[in-house]
Parts: sequence; structure tokens; C-alpha cells
Amino acid sequence: MSTATTLNMNIEKTKKSKLPQVDFNNLPFGQTFSDHMFVCDYKDGKWQTPQIIPYQNISLDPAAKIFHYGQSVFEGMKAYKDEKDQIWLFRPLENQKRINISSERLAMPAFPENYFMEGLETLLKIEKDWIPQTPGSSLYIRPFIFATGAGLHASPSTEYKFMIACAPSGAYFAGNVKVLIEEKYSRSANGGVGFAKAGGNYAGQFYPTQLAVEKGYHQVIWTDDNTHEFIEEAGAMNIFVRIGDTLITSPTSDRILDGITRKSILKIAEDEGIPVEVRKFTVSELTEASKNGTLKEMFGAGTAAVISPISLFGHRGKDYELPEIENSYAARFKKRITDIQYNRSEDKFGWRYLV
Ligand code: PLP
Ligand code: COI
Repeated sequence: MSTATTLNMNIEKTKKSKLPQVDFNNLPFGQTFSDHMFVCDYKDGKWQTPQIIPYQNISLDPAAKIFHYGQSVFEGMKAYKDEKDQIWLFRPLENQKRINISSERLAMPAFPENYFMEGLETLLKIEKDWIPQTPGSSLYIRPFIFATGAGLHASPSTEYKFMIACAPSGAYFAGNVKVLIEEKYSRSANGGVGFAKAGGNYAGQFYPTQLAVEKGYHQVIWTDDNTHEFIEEAGAMNIFVRIGDTLITSPTSDRILDGITRKSILKIAEDEGIPVEVRKFTVSELTEASKNGTLKEMFGAGTAAVISPISLFGHRGKDYELPEIENSYAARFKKRITDIQYNRSEDKFGWRYLV
């Protein structure tokens, strides 16, 4: 092991890279992991010296609180490589802040900004050959924290692990997405943990999503838990609709994740002079607009999903198809955002971050 960073991080390189086994033209999302991972333990009230070590299994006490009480949060980010082999991140400090917002809600300790950024950048420099240059692909980055302290008392752990794993990945969705508007189950509730990227939020979605998949949909669109009248977000992305020329998305709340892609789209829309309404909107507004032809587009936005056009939504046993349109907002936003991410255009908002 050598120690070479301002955090005095321990770095142990792998003896045999897995890179030659990877087909960069066929990268299912989040299935292949790079050679190294970042690990930092929390104990005795503080984060210990971080390490970067070969990607490997970890060993935990069966009574670790993550297994019993689900104390875990995560982030989703991507690293992009440009034509000059430079490595870029997109608004990484937003992820750093958000993981601590999530952690606070789950009574977990904050992870310091310098540990997060230095750990991430050091890992990415080591893993630079794992960042795909294949169009539409990138290195998906998964920072996560979970409770490692053992004990069955239902109270916060005193020990945690922060890790970063990296997975060279292609598109999250294979093509256009079909969604089902959910009216029975809820993803989140007022005062709950919906705004946090808590592992349990996703586990709770699996069963209703399975039921939707059995009916031929890809994702569920969540409505508010109280009335099921208002569109909130999807399982892995925020939702936008276009009625006439107006772009509409729900306001964030303690039930909805404050997506970084979502806020970037709102800024680009303002920049392009697109009329925007951030307001609550109902399912019946959508079905009406679909019937009278004013519903032009619906799309999801997120780090993994990028911008995913929705081709159809199901509601109460009926399917509503979205029209195919030229020069769609979804296509325009996708181009603007990915051109910034891959360093193909100017970065007028200062979102790009050189590693
Ligand atoms: N909503 C949920 C539930 C998500 O999991 C994600 C993905 O991170 C998003 C929205 C989009 O957030 P972001 O754009 O920050 O990736
Ligand atoms: C992301 O977009 O990064 C997410 O965390 C969503 C996840 C369900 C893949």
C-alpha cells in the first residue's frame, strides 16, 4: 500500500485488471464493476482514513443494522470522457450535498465534502480506462453509506461504511418508456423519506412496479399518497409533461427527490425561453390533454435515465399514447445536457467539473 493524497488515503492497486474482459459496445446498466472501490469507515464518532482497494466482497456481522433496519442512502452520478481523454463530472457538489441531506433524515453521519470529492477524483483517475467513450455510455458512479454496527436495538448504528463503486454503463432504458399511473400504492408520504435517496424507497417500489411490468409497462408514475390525483415522479426519475408549448413539472417536496437533472432542465428551459410551470398537476389534466390533442410530450429525467421520452401512459385500464413529434423538448434538453456533460459545447452555467 502507498499513501499519496492529502487525506493520506491508502491505495492498493489490483494485480490483474478485469478490463480486457469488458465489451464496451455492450454495457447493460450497472452490471459490470471497475477494478477498484473507495471505502471509508465511520467509528468512534469519526470517519477514519479512507482507502481505495481492489473491488471485492465485504464482510459484515449478520446483526449489522443495514440488514434489519435498512439504514442506507446512496447517490447516482456519472463520469464522462471527451475526445481529448479528459474526465468530466456533472454538478458533483449537488450529489455531495444531497447524500448528506439523505443521511441526516436517516440519522446517519454527514460525509465531509473534502473526503467525498478527493475520494471520488482519486478513484476516477485510477479508473480512467473504465470510462467508456462509446456514444451514450459513461461510467456510472454509485456512492453509498450503510450501517455496519451490530445490534438488534432499533436505534441508529454507531458504525457506518461509505463506499464508491463504478460501473461502465449504457442506457438505463432500452427505448421509449411506457408508464402506469399508480393509484393504489404510494412511494412516499408527507413527513416521510421520499425526498431522500434511501435504499428502502426503492425496495418499496419493487412490488407495485412488478405488477405494472406484468401488464407491459416499464415504470410506475407515483401520485400523491393522499388523493392519488396529482402526478409526483417515477421510480428512478422526475417527470415532465408538455401541454401545448408549456413545460410542466411538479414542485419538489418532502415526497419527491430534488433531481439534479430536473433542476438543470428547468434552467435550460428558462434559457431557451420555453414557458415553464412548476406546479401541481393532476392525472385528469393529462388524460384530458391527451384526448383533446394538447398533450405533446411526457418524459422522465434523471442521472441514469438521462432524458427518457415516454411513449404511452396507462390509467385505469386505458392506455394513452403520446404523439411522435419533431424537434421535441425532450430531444432538445437531452442534446443540451449531454453536450455539456461530454464537453461538446460551452458550459454557460458552470456545471461541468474537470477531474
Ligand atoms: N427521482 C428518483 C426517485 C430517483 O431515483 C432519481 C435518480 O437519481 C431522480 C428522481 C433523478 O435525480 P437526478 O437527476 O439527481 O439523478
Ligand atoms: C440515478 O439515476 O442515478 C439513480 O440513482 C436511479 C437508480 C434507481 C438507478
